[in-house]
Amino acid sequence: MTATATATATATRTGPTAESADPIPSQAFEVRGFDAAVGAEIVGLDISKPINDADFARIHRAHLDHHVVVFRDQDVSPEAHIEFSRRFGPLEIHVLHQFHLNNHPQILIVSNIKENGEPIGLGDAGVYWHSDISYKPRPSLGSLLHAQELPAEGGDTLFANQHLAWDALSTQLQQKVLHLKAEHSYLAKYEDLRAKNPWRPKLSQTQIDEVAPAVQPVVRTHPETGRRALFVSEHFTTRIVGLPQDESDALLAELFAHSVKPEFIYRHAWKPHDLVFWDNRSLMHLAAGTPDKLRRKLYRTTVIGDTPR
Ligand code: OGA
Ligand code: MN
Repeated sequence: MTATATATATATRTGPTAESADPIPSQAFEVRGFDAAVGAEIVGLDISKPINDADFARIHRAHLDHHVVVFRDQDVSPEAHIEFSRRFGPLEIHVLHQFHLNNHPQILIVSNIKENGEPIGLGDAGVYWHSDISYKPRPSLGSLLHAQELPAEGGDTLFANQHLAWDALSTQLQQKVLHLKAEHSYLAKYEDLRAKNPWRPKLSQTQIDEVAPAVQPVVRTHPETGRRALFVSEHFTTRIVGLPQDESDALLAELFAHSVKPEFIYRHAWKPHDLVFWDNRSLMHLAAGTPDKLRRKLYRTTVIGDTPR
C-alpha cells in the first residue's frame, strides 16, 4: 500500500479499534515439530510478555497441528500462567481444592512433595492413561503444565495421539464403536488410588456431588479440526452404555490396549522451565512416575472445552 492510501484509509476510520496495525510487537519465535507421533517445541517466545493476535494465531495453529506444544524457558509467575491460559478459554477449578495454589484456585499443584508430613499437591496425577476432566459434561480443551521443580531422573509424561488411534482401528471396529457412548467417572479409580496412596484426601459429599458421572461419545470429532478421535480411558471410563458389563469390559480393554500403541506416543522428558500445553480433545496422557525420594512439582491450569460430539 502507498503512503497516501494508508493515510487516507487511516483518516476515514474512527476510534482506536479500527486501527489495523497491532500495537503489540511480534515476538521472534520458532515452532519446531518433533520427530514423533505428536508434539512440537516453541522456542524464543515469552508467554508472560504481551502476545499480539498474529503471534497468538501461530500458537493456536501449532497447538491444533501438533496437539502438544512445549514452550521452552518459561520463567512465568502463576498470574502470567493463568492469564496466558485464559486466552484459550475459561479455566477449570479442580475438585481437589486441597491442592489449589494459595490464592490461585485456577492452579492445581501436581507434586509428590510432603511438607510436615502433608502432601503439597496431587502426587499421583496421571498414573493411568486419561484425558483431563473427561468425567465432566464439559471436559477440558487442554491443560498447561509448568515445571517448578524436576527430579534428576524419572518424571516423564507420555502423550498418545487419539486421532491416529482412531485412524488405525479396523473398519469393523470403527463401525462398531462409532455411535457408542460411555460413562466416565472421577470416582472410578479413586478408592484404589487412595489405598495405594493414603495421603489422597477423602472426598467430601460436596466434592462427590461435583463429579457426578458423565456420558461421552466413544469417538469424538475435534470441534476445531473436524478430525475424529477415540475418547475412552483406563482412568475414567467405566462402561459402554447399553452393553452387558462383560461385553463392555472386553470392548473397553481392547480399545484401551489399542489406544496407547507405541506408534501413537510422544514421551516428554521435562527440561527446567518447560510449559507444556496439550490438547485433551486429541490426546491421552500418562505420568511415567517419579522415584519417591526425588522431588517433583508442577503447576497446572486446565482450560474448559466444549461438550464432546
Ligand atoms: C496432569 C497429569 C502427568 C504428569 O497434570 O494432568 O496427568 O506427568 N500429569 O505429571
Ligand atoms: Mn492429567
